[in-house]
Amino acid sequence: QPGTLVDKYGRHVSYVRLSITDRCDFRCTYCMAEEMTFLPRNQVMSLEESLRVAEAFVGLGVNKLRLTGGEPLVRKNVMWLIERLGALPGLDNLVLTTNGSQLDRFAEPLKAAGVRRLNISLDTLDPERFRQITRIGELGKVLRGIEAASTAGFRRTKLNTVMMRGTNDHEFVDLVRFAIAQGLDISFIEEMPLGEIHGRSQTYISTEETLALLGQHFELTPSDENSGGPARYWRIPGCETRVGFISPHSHNFCDSCNRVRITAKGELYPCLGQNDALNLLPVLRSGDDLALRQAIMDSMGIKPFGHDFSNQMNNPQVIRFMSMTGG
Ligand code: GTP
Ligand code: 5AD
Ligand code: SF4
Repeated sequence: QPGTLVDKYGRHVSYVRLSITDRCDFRCTYCMAEEMTFLPRNQVMSLEESLRVAEAFVGLGVNKLRLTGGEPLVRKNVMWLIERLGALPGLDNLVLTTNGSQLDRFAEPLKAAGVRRLNISLDTLDPERFRQITRIGELGKVLRGIEAASTAGFRRTKLNTVMMRGTNDHEFVDLVRFAIAQGLDISFIEEMPLGEIHGRSQTYISTEETLALLGQHFELTPSDENSGGPARYWRIPGCETRVGFISPHSHNFCDSCNRVRITAKGELYPCLGQNDALNLLPVLRSGDDLALRQAIMDSMGIKPFGHDFSNQMNNPQVIRFMSMTGG
């Protein structure tokens, strides 16, 4: 029966972020350590297991599923899963967050499988700086991926830009111009201090500061559109582009949170900014789908009110990197 997932604060959970791998072909500084040890294969959910988790959530009224990673498209045989998710009755909104590096190959099959929209990370338009931020990524490949997405028929693709002082802050205006020229949306994200935060405290930029900067170049008007996510949007008259801001520090959006996350290991994280998790893997591997459903329902009881990054810099509470929880 739809809409059965309600937490103890009355928030309806209708959106799941499903990470299908902790691996990535990039090593973005805000997301991973330079040397990463990835999970051994037997600790990662199989694609069949990921599908069963998704089916259990959809059976409980979830209608939006976002695939994340790591980089979801580096998972072997990923299309096997995506084709089945695309055909799952009740799942209206299948979407994917990607670094874009594999889209030249995958854009078409993703579209054909029923993926609705793509979010693509893009922090810079400068190849050299792109290399610094991702450590091993290649900008040209991502730009070709963005192109391939639009050729395949994806509309309203969203760029994600993590704001970093001294790294990409002088490019925000150009990134918005790029989004306008390509007919894309763009979201600016306040960097979240997850994982190894040493040396990152100087790079934080608030939404307010970037809004003021962009306001000097564009006529931004607040929009009340809501994707059901944490972003707040502004519009630029005369074009389709939406400029979003995700402001975990300066504008807490936890009271309207509608989501939970599943890590590649099969742990259910009710909140990105907290350490509480429920390991679904044992019940998943027991083969008992009723028990799986019950475990998911029980997780509503441990969904905390929200994240608090206010003291995270001095006293880190969350030491997981973003690549573990999939953002
Ligand atoms: P929509 O599904 O369109 O709302 O996408 P999204 O913007 O939420 O997803 P995406 O995967 O593109 O993530 C963009 C940024 O939002 C990433 O930095 C995520 O970590 C962050 N984000 C998404 N959901 C949450 C959340 O519940 N809490 C916090 N603190 N950050 C979130
Ligand atoms: N803070 C904010 N956003 C982050 N992302 C990864 N790590 C962080 C972080 N520490 C973003 C990526 C990607 C999305 C899934 O999460 O840029 O677009
Ligand atoms: Fe990979 Fe995305 Fe993390 Fe960068 S932010 S290392 S592209 S998972």
